[in-house]
Amino acid sequence: MKNITVIGSGTMGNGIAHTFAQYGFSVSLVDINASALEKAVLTIGQNLDRQVKKGSIDEKAKDETLQRIQTFTALEAGAREADLVVEAATENKKVKLELFSELDRLCAPHTVLASNTSSISITALAAATRRSDRVIGMHFMNPVPVMKLVEVIRGYNTSDECTKQIMQLAEQIAKVPVEVNDYPGFIANRILMPMINEAIFALYEGVATKEAIDEVMKLGMAHPMGPLQLADFIGLDVCLAIMRVLHEGFGNPKYAPCPLLVNMVTAGKLGKKSKAGFYSYE
Ligand code: NAI
Repeated sequence: MKNITVIGSGTMGNGIAHTFAQYGFSVSLVDINASALEKAVLTIGQNLDRQVKKGSIDEKAKDETLQRIQTFTALEAGAREADLVVEAATENKKVKLELFSELDRLCAPHTVLASNTSSISITALAAATRRSDRVIGMHFMNPVPVMKLVEVIRGYNTSDECTKQIMQLAEQIAKVPVEVNDYPGFIANRILMPMINEAIFALYEGVATKEAIDEVMKLGMAHPMGPLQLADFIGLDVCLAIMRVLHEGFGNPKYAPCPLLVNMVTAGKLGKKSKAGFYSYE
């Protein structure tokens, strides 16, 4: 694999493009929004500057990394040469299903189609294509250039060969791939989100203050951030959407989102991005 196409140049897409380009791959970064592409290139430049300052790369590597990234607003242009597409567009099932069907039509037969989705079924995305053996999840963590884990998600029909190829590719970009099967929330969010939801229930029931809940988990479990602070960083709307996927996917009431989480999202308190969640970010 030489040519990587990344769809969506937001928080995750720019990090994924940065990482592949840093390890020598040619990257086509595609977004429907031209200003998102401009912002992504700026962000990648700033993050590379930070790596130069820390001494992890030199100026030459920075320039070469930037030169390996091309941007496109048209899917046709960006997808044509791809050996691998990593889709990191907005977390919306309809948007992703349309993208996978379109990518299947536009890409060469050998191209592997991967999604960075946090919660949408890889098997459902694969069913929108005629290459379900070559559709897979590549779930990177935020911030991508820093975080080592890639959760590699096998859809129902994903082949052994495709899985092996993606596991090896993740190692080539200095990540640690972990293979999991395609069930709601995969592993990362199936375990993380119920923990966050339980912390919200503890607050809702008045068991402890928000500060106390976060302190117990930070000091007692050596978590770098408490669950309520982490929820604010992830976005409360994102947490709620993932709890709903778990609740619907398993049909088990233990995954019901806490009414306080539902109320906060309805009231527009989405965490850090809206400047208010469990904590204030004014
Ligand atoms: P974002 O909202 O920052 O960026 C999404 C980008 O996709 C936007 O720039 C938007 O213009 C673009 N886009 C939307 N529809 C498109 C289309 N049809 N074609 C091309 N571009 C399109 O979103 P973010 O946070 O980067 O999330 C992207 C994906 O990564 C989602 O599936 C999300 O669940 C997943 N994810 C997010 C994490 C996070 O911490 N933000 C962590 C792990 C996965």
